[in-house]
Order: sequence, then C-alpha cells, then structure tokens
Amino acid sequence: MFSETADVYDLIYRGLKDFQDEAAQVAALIRLRIPFAKRLLDVACGTGEHARYLVRDHGFHVDGIDLEPAFVDIARGKNPGGTFTCADMVDFDLGSEYDAVLCLFSSIGYVKDLPRLEQSLRSLKRHVARDGMLVVEPWFEPGAMQHGYVMCVNAEGEGRKVCRMSRTEIDGRLSRVHFEYLIGDSRGLRRASEFHELGLFTRGEMTAAFESAGIEVEYDEVGFIGRGLYLGTRVD
Ligand SMILES: C[S@@+](CC[C@H](N)C(=O)[O-])C[C@H]1O[C@@H](n2cnc3c(N)ncnc32)[C@H](O)[C@@H]1O
Repeated sequence: MFSETADVYDLIYRGLKDFQDEAAQVAALIRLRIPFAKRLLDVACGTGEHARYLVRDHGFHVDGIDLEPAFVDIARGKNPGGTFTCADMVDFDLGSEYDAVLCLFSSIGYVKDLPRLEQSLRSLKRHVARDGMLVVEPWFEPGAMQHGYVMCVNAEGEGRKVCRMSRTEIDGRLSRVHFEYLIGDSRGLRRASEFHELGLFTRGEMTAAFESAGIEVEYDEVGFIGRGLYLGTRVD
C-alpha cells in the first residue's frame, strides 16, 4: 500500500506529527502503570519513528511488525537494536511477550471489519505479558468523517519536494482515502497513487471486540493526538 511512497513518509509527517512528543506520552503512560517496563512491541510500526524515540529518549527495547516491507526496512535501519518483521497484525505470532504492545496512529482501522478487528486484538493480546498492557490508538467512529473531504499537504527537505492530495469517501462502515503524490528532486518528478481502506468502528464495537478477545479495556476520549485511546489489560 505504501511501497511507492515509503521513502517520503517521514518527510511528510515531519511537519504534521510530533513523534518525539508522542513517544514521551506513550512512555509516561506505560511507566505510570508498569514502572519497570522494558520490552515493547510496536504493531504496524511504519517507519519505526515512535520506536526510535522510545529507545533513544526512554530506554525501552522496541521490536516491531508491519505489513509493508519498505517500512520494515526503514524501521530496521533506524532501530538496529530491535527486531523488525514483516507480518500481518490480523494473524501473527512472534513467540514472544512484551510489557506493552502498541498499535498507534489509527493503524487498527486498516483491518477494515469487525471479525478481523477481533482477530487482530487476539493476536496483539498473544504478545502481552501477564500484567502487561495494550495501547491502541483508533481510527474515526462512524459519522465523524466528512464524505468528499479533500486535503493537500506539501513537504520539503533532503533535496526533495512532495505534494500529496487526498480525498476521503465514506461508504457505509468503510472510509476510502485516495492519495495522489507528486514527488520531485533534481533528477525529475514522479507520481504515485494510493488507495487506503479503513473500517469505521463505534466505541461500543471496539470495546466489545477487546472484551471478546479477553482484554479488559478503558477508553480515553482524547489520547495522544485527539483521536482517543484504548488501554487494555489481559484478563486471564
Ligand atoms: C498510518 S500508518 C502508521 C504507521 C506508524 N504506526 C506511525 O505512527 O507512523 C499505518 C500503518 O499500518 C500498517 N498496516 C496496515 N495494515 C496492516 C496489517 N494488517 N498488519 C500490519 N501493519 C499494517 C501500514 O503498513 C502502515 O505502516
């Protein structure tokens, strides 16, 4: 999905998202509940930017998985101390448990439907140590997004310029985001197109999915970036 644009993801989000501050919030939240937490798993880790700060500024060991091989390569390069693997959050087993399992920046929406949501939460839970926690930042609830919304982002750095325009469509419980990129440097211009589909789950559906996966869950309306936050603990 991101394979043609993985190299410009960090450039685009550098101006939109403060990964260092978010990592500090994640670290504080985990240490409040698990003071001696050390091992974290970042599910749908993208380019490993949260991981980088969680390691560098907060002393955690962070491993990660992502579906996109190009992201996994970038994450590995930034985080040589961790293990970064290409895997599908819907069904994966690293054979290892962590003090906290993270799934940030709405990545959970990519599972699209309720059966896959519940299956993913079971996979995440499989990796949470006894007394460990889950931190899941959701995508939007039904009704929160505007059909036909168009957004344009420009970014510049490292000798490149990027224009990214997106348009969102709402189709029942699915949001579809069409991205068009124009990426230029001194060697030339290239275009790329992406189509993302993310499921729109209500808070009730999210809570029920956590509970049926055997996870006790609390909800924070605001979370790290205003999209809310689910905090889970294993019940067995
Ligand atoms: C919005 S990006 C967030 C990436 C990263 N967590 C961040 O905060 O920058 C969504 C991520 O979810 C990943 N993803 C989508 N579906 C996935 C799946 N089924 N299993 C694992 N990763 C998935 C994408 O490849 C992408 O890296």
